[in-house]
Amino acid sequence: MMFKKIILIMCLGLIPAAALMAQDYEYIGAMKCKMCHNSPAKGNQYKIWKDSKHAHAMEALKGADATNPKCTKCHSTAASVSENLWAGITVKEGVSCESCHGPGSKYKSMSIMKDRKKALANGMIIPTEATCKKCHNSESPTFKGFDYKTALAKIAHPIPKH
Ligand code: HEC
Ligand code: HEC
Ligand code: HEC
Ligand code: HEC
Repeated sequence: MMFKKIILIMCLGLIPAAALMAQDYEYIGAMKCKMCHNSPAKGNQYKIWKDSKHAHAMEALKGADATNPKCTKCHSTAASVSENLWAGITVKEGVSCESCHGPGSKYKSMSIMKDRKKALANGMIIPTEATCKKCHNSESPTFKGFDYKTALAKIAHPIPKH
């Protein structure tokens, strides 16, 4: 009886640990976000990003630099994370949505996305200055400083207010 209780308590203890491990959010790529974030009514986030320097960041790397992990880790979302976490994302898409908003495998469904609390609980990130400074820092060979407010205005892609 006592023994059974101990086993039960041990199992209960294991459930949260297992649940945590299952939460390895994966990177699905910007094309998956496009289907819901590319209409003028919603704010054209995909198009704004696609036309930005972030989407073309891999083009800045020439020759051997294009495959040098010391460069690609900041010029590409995919290259910045372990290949085990790739679920559709490509190195070529450059710095994409998930570098700033978190890997989308769990929050991408409509029922979760439309509920901010649920999205945050499933890996979505609302970026802050620190998110940008993972890449915009003096480790970048071309770094000339980073002003958050100015930079934020340059990449703005808000949902239009009704
Ligand atoms: C199935 C449709 C769908 C997909 C796919 C989707 N989204 Fe969303 N997303 C929504 C909806 C709906 C909202 C709620 C706001 C709105 O109505 O426009 C939202 C809101 C957001 C917000 C704002 C959250 C907040 O509260 O400020 C971010 C950021 C976001 N999505 C990023 C992404 C990213 C990044 C991807 C791809 C990894 C993605 N979404 C994929 C439908 C989707
Ligand atoms: C370089 C970082 C970065 C990238 C790349 C990026 N975003 Fe964002 N995104 C932000 C920031 C910063 C905000 C503003 C957050 C806030 O409201 O404080 C934001 C806000 C949003 C919002 C909410 C807007 C609102 O008015 O509430 C949506 C939706 C969104 N992003 C979707 C996307 C999608 C889809 C992509 C890719 C196609 C993408 N973002 C790429 C940084 C980024
Ligand atoms: C994963 C790395 C990474 C993150 C995170 C990131 N950036 Fe960038 N950003 C880059 C790279 C790389 C470039 C240069 C791309 C190029 O010029 O080819 C760039 C370019 C830019 C530019 C264009 C510079 C110009 O003068 O035209 C702006 C603006 C910018 N980022 C703002 C932001 C903001 C704001 C955030 C955070 C919300 C952010 N970035 C997050 C890597 C990143
Ligand atoms: C710590 C992150 C980081 C690393 C590492 C990094 N970059 Fe960048 N790179 C950036 C950011 C952010 C920008 C845009 C702003 C700036 O210049 O700091 C950028 C901009 C550039 C630009 C200018 C693009 C343009 O359109 O003007 C070139 C070229 C470049 N990087 C090449 C490289 C090469 C080559 C390497 C590897 C030796 C490298 N970067 C490593 C973050 C990084």
